[in-house]
Amino acid sequence: MRKSHSKELDQTVEETKEYYRQRASQYSDWAHRTDRYEEGAEPEAFWFDEAMILIEALASSGLSGDVLEIASGTGIWTEELLRNAASVTALDSSPEMHERSRSRLVRNPKVRYVVADIYNWVPDMSYDAVTFSFWLSHVPGSKLDDFVSKVARCLKLGGRVFFADQRREGLTREVMDHPSGEIARRSLIDGREFKIIKHFYSSEEITRCFLQEGININISNTATLFYYANGVKYRAQKSQVP
Ligand SMILES: C[S@@+](CC[C@H](N)C(=O)[O-])C[C@H]1O[C@@H](n2cnc3c(N)ncnc32)[C@H](O)[C@@H]1O
Repeated sequence: MRKSHSKELDQTVEETKEYYRQRASQYSDWAHRTDRYEEGAEPEAFWFDEAMILIEALASSGLSGDVLEIASGTGIWTEELLRNAASVTALDSSPEMHERSRSRLVRNPKVRYVVADIYNWVPDMSYDAVTFSFWLSHVPGSKLDDFVSKVARCLKLGGRVFFADQRREGLTREVMDHPSGEIARRSLIDGREFKIIKHFYSSEEITRCFLQEGININISNTATLFYYANGVKYRAQKSQVP
């Protein structure tokens, strides 16, 4: 893999946050997230069919108790989580995303909103479950281990993990700066262009880095577009968040 220069990478992590702040108004339903949306094209029916498989997978993943949702966005997943969770800490760097989530969830008192950059955030409690959908591919390779370690530290022993994301095969129109790199170009419907992190991890890479942190992961694929992963923490961390 081509290693991006660290300054360029830091800038791209910042630009990824800015891109989603600006995109928040165009991200509140499933139709907004296809790679054809900016071209004004309607998503194909299979897009919705496969997206619903992810929602069903989350529903059957058994996440309950105090749940941490990282990169919670406009609340599409938070809404599902609230069916079984005692509380959801919804963390996102974009206040605009949270605003949309608040309206979707009619200010549900079980949700605690945290505006933070996940890479700087310090967890203040431990959780029964941690979830992050359509997020892992925005974590650059150089930050993956730290990210997974943070997830593991704030997850209780026996706690569960669920996440879902796009597969490389499903994102045919992603414009990568370099074919084997992790920086992509995205534009908004008004034509503004942003560089964002887009790193397609293999199932083996994902499984290995979670295993290192004491979390056993099982990954399943939908027909073409997505994957989803269920995990259980089987080993406590030395630096566990109390
Ligand atoms: C692809 S969206 C996914 C949102 C939501 N999970 C969903 O599927 O609808 C990525 C989210 O990550 C948030 N984000 C980007 N960089 C972040 C960072 N460094 N820390 C926390 N959140 C970040 C964005 O604001 C955006 O809401």
